[in-house]
Amino acid sequence: MNMHVIGLGYVGLPIAIAFSELGNVVVGIDKDKEKIDLLQKCEPTIAEAKLKHLLIKNVTAKRLSFSTSLESIGKADVITIAVDTPTLRGGGRFVMYIHSST
Ligand SMILES: NC(=O)c1ccc[n+]([C@@H]2O[C@H](COP(=O)([O-])OP(=O)(O)OC[C@H]3O[C@@H](n4cnc5c(N)ncnc54)[C@H](O)[C@@H]3O)[C@@H](O)[C@H]2O)c1
Repeated sequence: MNMHVIGLGYVGLPIAIAFSELGNVVVGIDKDKEKIDLLQKCEPTIAEAKLKHLLIKNVTAKRLSFSTSLESIGKADVITIAVDTPTLRGGGRFVMYIHSST
């Protein structure tokens, strides 16, 4: 399946890597360009056992890629949203992207 994960923090990054390790084609998306730059170089942005090994393995196999852009979201079979929880009444800085292919 083509899977997109939006938000690559403590939840989203391990999910994106695990989905790709299971054989899916995964695009990880985050608004933080510095984070995306590091991940594109297979540099882990969180401390987690085996993360670097699995990043290199799945990026090299072209199952896992990273972007700041939502451009490819229309190709996704599954979209996982793992961005921050709103901290303020009314939504705070939370933005939810909704995609429809119809
Ligand atoms: N960490 C946990 O143990 C845990 C447990 C249960 C639930 N959660 C929930 O999971 C969600 C993610 O938690 P986390 O710990 O991974 O947070 P995090 O802060 O580590 O990561 C969130 C990521 O989302 C990105 N982001 C925020 N808004 C974005 C947007 N509009 N577009 C693209 N990227 C965006 C941020 O740049 C950041 O990299 C939260 O809602 C949290 O409440 C976390």
